[in-house]
Amino acid sequence: MTTGTPKPQIDTSKPHSARVYDYLLGGRDHFAADRQVGALLPEKSRRDARLNRAFMQRAAAWLASEGVDQYLDIGTGIPTEPNLHQIVQRINPKSRVVYTDHDPIVLQHAESLLASTADGATDYIEADIREPLVILEHARATLDFSRPIALSVIALMHFITDGQDPYGITRTLVDALPSGSYLVLTQGTADFHPQLAGQVTGTYTKGGIALRLRAHAEVARFFEGLAFVAPGLVTAPQWYQEAPAPADEDCSFYVGVARVP
Ligand SMILES: C[S@@+](CC[C@H](N)C(=O)[O-])C[C@H]1O[C@@H](n2cnc3c(N)ncnc32)[C@H](O)[C@@H]1O
Repeated sequence: MTTGTPKPQIDTSKPHSARVYDYLLGGRDHFAADRQVGALLPEKSRRDARLNRAFMQRAAAWLASEGVDQYLDIGTGIPTEPNLHQIVQRINPKSRVVYTDHDPIVLQHAESLLASTADGATDYIEADIREPLVILEHARATLDFSRPIALSVIALMHFITDGQDPYGITRTLVDALPSGSYLVLTQGTADFHPQLAGQVTGTYTKGGIALRLRAHAEVARFFEGLAFVAPGLVTAPQWYQEAPAPADEDCSFYVGVARVP
């Protein structure tokens, strides 16, 4: 399903966040312009990308085991197995998942995102998070907004600058969710490695991609009014429900899961 304002065709001459991330994860869906940006990023960015993705997988499995069976994932990215629907449908085959991204290359891969179990459902919306009402309107075709939904916004909000109203966008989305829903959000930070973070921001900016890394308190603001699930707002490798977190892994992604009261 394609929604919102008309979107341009894939422009391979310019780097795009989805394809740079695919490069960092060792995927195959990137072009020279994306590789140029990716190659200039510090080695740590690859590890951080993998740790962020691993958090998504743990959080999805935890939500499914808690009985959540509806998911709205915004900023899905190029499919990288296991994708969210594969994780949650393995636990509950009836799970319904709506994926959203604004990069047309993700739409090209939608078949692998739409391979749902027979009892469940998946859908794909090509839309921009800066049009949250458009996303909500289309998500209603697949998800029942009278029952809990997990909204996942993973590694996206650092591409939304302060002038683009990141907190208002998140509030609009969360306000549409019924009690018992969850917000799962991750965001890059400069808190631990300011110099490396400067290099990362500079590299993306030169490639024409605005990056707004945020401090702990700024990321916590996305969760205002919600109740954090333990261990709260932590770095990606520190978010564990069952196994103890590995002691010494550092990561420049803050992650959190919080419940809508
Ligand atoms: C770093 S990737 C993260 C992919 C996936 N969520 C993950 O963490 O593995 C960021 C994704 O957000 C998407 N994105 C960036 N800005 C967006 C926007 N304004 N609206 C929707 N998606 C956006 C990009 O196309 C890309 O696929």
